[in-house]
Amino acid sequence: MAVLVTGGAGYIGSHTCVRLLEAGYDVVVADNYYNSSPAALERVKKISGRDFKTYEVDMLDKPGLEKAFEENRIDSVIHFAGLKAVGESVEKPLLYYRTNIGGTLNLLELMVKYGVNTIVFSSSATVYGIPEKVPVTEESPLSAINPYGMTKLNIEGILRDCQAAQPDLSVVLLRYFNPIGSHKSGLLGEDPKGIPNNLLPYVSRVALGIYPHVNVYGGDYPTKDGTGVRDYIHVVDLAEGHVKALGWAAENKGAGVFNLGTGEGYSVFEIIAAFEKACGRRVPYQVTGRRAGDAPIVFADCRKAKAELDWAAVRGIDEMCRDAWNFVSKNPEGIK
Ligand code: WQD
Repeated sequence: MAVLVTGGAGYIGSHTCVRLLEAGYDVVVADNYYNSSPAALERVKKISGRDFKTYEVDMLDKPGLEKAFEENRIDSVIHFAGLKAVGESVEKPLLYYRTNIGGTLNLLELMVKYGVNTIVFSSSATVYGIPEKVPVTEESPLSAINPYGMTKLNIEGILRDCQAAQPDLSVVLLRYFNPIGSHKSGLLGEDPKGIPNNLLPYVSRVALGIYPHVNVYGGDYPTKDGTGVRDYIHVVDLAEGHVKALGWAAENKGAGVFNLGTGEGYSVFEIIAAFEKACGRRVPYQVTGRRAGDAPIVFADCRKAKAELDWAAVRGIDEMCRDAWNFVSKNPEGIK
């Protein structure tokens, strides 16, 4: 029996595949390599010492995706595949709704057809919008402030509705905060194509000398130093949360929702300073205007994941930055 990992060649997906294989699960990966590389899967095999089947397929290609179900005994799914750039989602909402929601509907219909009763979904703290209160709990108000966030919110609702209609279905919604860092080998890491939207990959490329400075989006927020505060979590801690989620699903039917964060908030300036310490280089920056849609402060209350998943993040900000630098300094051209 195997876990089907959609988007398994991606940043979080590849790190999760390593932990699944190390935990003894069999894995099947489906990925269209739109924002990833098949080379990442070869590195997953190298790190884990285990082989697994891969399908180069788009989630919108239902017949192609069905091959993964026809040719393997799939008993659970971890669903990462989807578009994830907030800014792009504002420019191309239909692409995001079609890809993220349409792809998920294809997956769910195939799960019903093949009797697969467990799905762990890659949701996001973006479903909290601009929170009134922090830390955010799983019961905090939900709101979408961009089409990307709306797709996450809609897919959470679709999964809850499917579970209500099919009581033997186990659904786990994992709301990630800000994943950063890399596997300690330096073989896997965040490797966005094009100009990074997220802070860490951009800071990394400034440290490499690819870009001249970081644009700090806003220095006048009501925060400790005026810059945006986020809950950064090591991607390996996040990957381990998915293994725990499968354990929860094996014991529980119904829909579970969990914040996967550290409960700590760090500002942009603190991240830049931590990264400079990790890489031993200066990271110049310029404070610019705020980015539309950014919240001043977002960080998690993750007591529920500790209590019900027996999971907590254990890696601190220095380790996150050290591991992130280890990856980019070993792979300045990304994963080829
Ligand atoms: C972090 C902080 C920015 C870039 C988003 C999505 C979330 C997930 C992660 C997909 C903020 C500041 C950033 C830069 C900056 N997406 N910043 N200069 O916006 O918290 O979360 O990405 O998985 O769902 O919502 O992450 O890294 O873009 O921003 O000053 O060049 O860094 O203003 O305060 P964000 P981010």
